Amino acid sequence: MQITIDIEVVENIEQLSEIERKLVASAKAIALQAYAPYSKFYVGAAVLLKNGEIVSGNNQENAAYPSGLCAERTAIFYANAQYPEQSITTLAVAVFTNNEFTTQPVTPCGSCRQVMLEAENRYQQPMRVIMVGQEKIYIANSVKDLLPLSFDAIK
Ligand code: THU
Repeated sequence: MQITIDIEVVENIEQLSEIERKLVASAKAIALQAYAPYSKFYVGAAVLLKNGEIVSGNNQENAAYPSGLCAERTAIFYANAQYPEQSITTLAVAVFTNNEFTTQPVTPCGSCRQVMLEAENRYQQPMRVIMVGQEKIYIANSVKDLLPLSFDAIK
């Protein structure tokens, strides 16, 4: 068996639509407000809802390390809590560390991918995922490209 995933690589942010550039700017802005005193890896995530609203979140760390939460899940859970009727059409994620935004794209952890997949399934809406680096940007048109052979209790 061979499984193929699709990731678009964009080298110029101008290739993104205006709303996507706004989403990326929002992810970068919220990254700077992350609470990451332990890792000093400041992650920002912004989600675009079906109604056009943008919701953002960042990583929140804790002295008891596993109690912290990643930026992607902070943003998604907040969006789903505040706007349970709104599907997420796009998520952008960016990282600020060592005094700069990373040159390479940040790719979500496994737990975040699982939560992103649930949002896709829950709303029957593929989520476009924009993983931002200063030198290049990865784009997946569905979380399924980030999590092949995923667990799905509904199957
Ligand atoms: N982190 C995120 O917020 N999102 C990711 O996609 C990867 C990791 C956070 C968790 C922790 O606060 C810090 O980055 C270092 O792992």
